[in-house]
Amino acid sequence: MDFDQIITSRRSIRFFSSKPVATDLLTEILTLANYAPSWSDSQPWQVYLAQGETLAKIKAAHQKATAVKLATSPTLAPMRRRFWEDFARENMHNNSEAMRAFVGGAENLTEFNQAQTDLFNAPVICYLTIPQKAPDWSLFDLGLFSQSLTLAAKSRGVDSIIAYELIKYTDQLKATLQIPASENLIAGIALGYRDSHALNDYQSPRRPLAEFVHTFD
Ligand SMILES: Cc1cc2nc3c(=O)[nH]c(=O)nc-3n(C[C@H](O)[C@H](O)[C@H](O)COP(=O)(O)O)c2cc1C
Repeated sequence: MDFDQIITSRRSIRFFSSKPVATDLLTEILTLANYAPSWSDSQPWQVYLAQGETLAKIKAAHQKATAVKLATSPTLAPMRRRFWEDFARENMHNNSEAMRAFVGGAENLTEFNQAQTDLFNAPVICYLTIPQKAPDWSLFDLGLFSQSLTLAAKSRGVDSIIAYELIKYTDQLKATLQIPASENLIAGIALGYRDSHALNDYQSPRRPLAEFVHTFD
């Protein structure tokens, strides 16, 4: 795959098959992601990989937490849509509508929601932290690392999704993964191979450049 193919064919996968990702491949993907730039080469990230029995435990705890409506404990709180700037709210609205049109029926939306509760049936989840004692720039750097990771995965035929759902219950995750109190768990990226579910073919819209590029000659 050339770079254009990698970047345009990556999309969030919400239904993974049970096929595991080989350890060598994971190492390759993380090695490539580690080329991401960061402030003064600070490389502020730590990566916790959950698979096998540990991930099964995490999934069971997540399903239970969802069922009993446990209070969420993310490091970065989500912001209610009404507080977002108009143009961003409109982009989110357009995506929701396009997804609704794509799935066609409420039944498929139920599957979409169930996929979240099941942590997308992913065989591997990467949990990413930065030090609690970090500047905002480390968050920026972690974003660069995350995108490098998803593209490196795609280049090796491995699908992914970055999802809030994965790190909603940070308190229990930190305990299971033995993440020290000195680190903030920021993001989760699920890796694996897409199954044949139609929702995996959904492609989210992008606005034209004219709406966000401001050129001054
Ligand atoms: C920080 C972040 C959090 C996200 N959280 C979720 C989530 O909880 N559930 C979900 O289905 N998708 C989640 N997504 C995926 C986005 O919906 C998706 O990236 C966006 O719609 C663009 O689609 P694409 O990734 O297929 O290009 C998240 C993406 C990001 C970057």
